[in-house]
Amino acid sequence: MSFASRSAQALRAASRRAPRNVANVASHAQRASYSLLARSAVAATSRAPAIQTQVRGVKTLDFAGTKEVVYERSDWPLAKLQDYFKNDTLALIGYGSQGHGQGLNARDNGLKVIVGVREGGESWKQAQEDGWVPGETLFPIEEAINRGTIIMNLLSDAAQSQTWPKIEPLITKGKTLYFSHGFSVVYKDDTHVIPPKDVDVILVAPKGSGRTVRTLFKEGRGINSSVAVWQDVTGKAKEKAVALGVAVGSGYMYETTFEKEVYSDLYGERGVLMGGIQGLFLAQYKVLRANGHTPSEAFNETVEEATQSLYPLIGQYGMDYMYNACSTTARRGALDWAPIFEKANLPVFEQLYESVKNGTETRKSLEYNSRSTYREDLAKELKEIDEQEIWRAGKVVRGLRPDSQH
Ligand SMILES: NC(=O)c1ccc[n+]([C@@H]2O[C@H](COP(=O)([O-])OP(=O)(O)OC[C@H]3O[C@@H](n4cnc5c(N)ncnc54)[C@H](OP(=O)(O)O)[C@@H]3O)[C@@H](O)[C@H]2O)c1
Repeated sequence: MSFASRSAQALRAASRRAPRNVANVASHAQRASYSLLARSAVAATSRAPAIQTQVRGVKTLDFAGTKEVVYERSDWPLAKLQDYFKNDTLALIGYGSQGHGQGLNARDNGLKVIVGVREGGESWKQAQEDGWVPGETLFPIEEAINRGTIIMNLLSDAAQSQTWPKIEPLITKGKTLYFSHGFSVVYKDDTHVIPPKDVDVILVAPKGSGRTVRTLFKEGRGINSSVAVWQDVTGKAKEKAVALGVAVGSGYMYETTFEKEVYSDLYGERGVLMGGIQGLFLAQYKVLRANGHTPSEAFNETVEEATQSLYPLIGQYGMDYMYNACSTTARRGALDWAPIFEKANLPVFEQLYESVKNGTETRKSLEYNSRSTYREDLAKELKEIDEQEIWRAGKVVRGLRPDSQH
């Protein structure tokens, strides 16, 4: 299949579908409100024709026949957001990828934010580099919790369990406990994280890395997140969760439960998002190699076309569109083989979901990530992947891309 002909077809079809893609219009309109960093850029272009802000907000949408509630940040103009949290201090506990993204976004949105991490650790240094000041906005964990009204537990999931005995007594009545993953409280039998009965417990789980949470915000866009309530003591828990979602940089949010969030998240990353894709790539590559194809040919027909040409089309316009952008020969084969792959994989996915639901995956993750050697052990396993022939061939292929040859 020729890349060029596929791209040309894709472009033609893209222009036909262009009206469906309203994201650019929305993101320009939102930029002025939600990224102070981007505000100056917008001011500089303020003589450009005005783009009408879409009036949106909480709504029930029909997702392929199922009605679901979605929240959009246009319900929370910056002034309303700042007023809502005017008496609050957001205490971010942990400063990994989410702490960095969510903390800086909430700070740029004008909210009072402090960070709590181990003094002298890697995160302490990182936080200082990002402008958090020891004794003013950067504190040891316990002190930050004492100073905060909304305690955002963004430690690693294993650390949330390890540190809970020290943290739990500090979560006193009137505070709000916030997570970005349902992991700790849903698998409480394994993590022993059982929140006190007299506080709201809420979740905002950005569907992407903390680095993306930050970059999208800086561009005036916003990540999509899930929001959920575990415990509503004040009657305001859901409203608070949505407002916090906006504060940390979400553009829109889907309503879910803690259980559904953690089950789908663990399942997805073990499946198609990460584990499944590596397994499928490797199996396809191995058969090509066993039949005498060169590493470059096997890599190109497995990974390079997927990531550089076809998957972005699925992301932009859907699977049928990607099929349509390919040759009739390719389409026929894909249509015939898709159900065979589905049938072969269904039992694996069923086994995976059960393993997530019954806590097996959680116990493995806690056991592995609580080891003192977990960083070294992880590096060893990732090195093994890096050294697989497929990925070594990939490095050479990537180096050939014209855009990497500057
Ligand atoms: N990363 C993502 O893509 C993503 C996406 C959505 C949701 N989430 C959720 O967001 C939460 C935070 O994840 P993350 O990826 O940002 O964080 P992470 O990188 O997994 O965790 C980093 C933080 O945990 C601290 N930490 C680790 N062990 C500790 C211990 N024993 N005592 C005290 N602090 C300890 C680290 O501090 P030191 O530097 O001092 O070690 C660091 O500040 C998790 O619940 C995660 O599931 C993550």
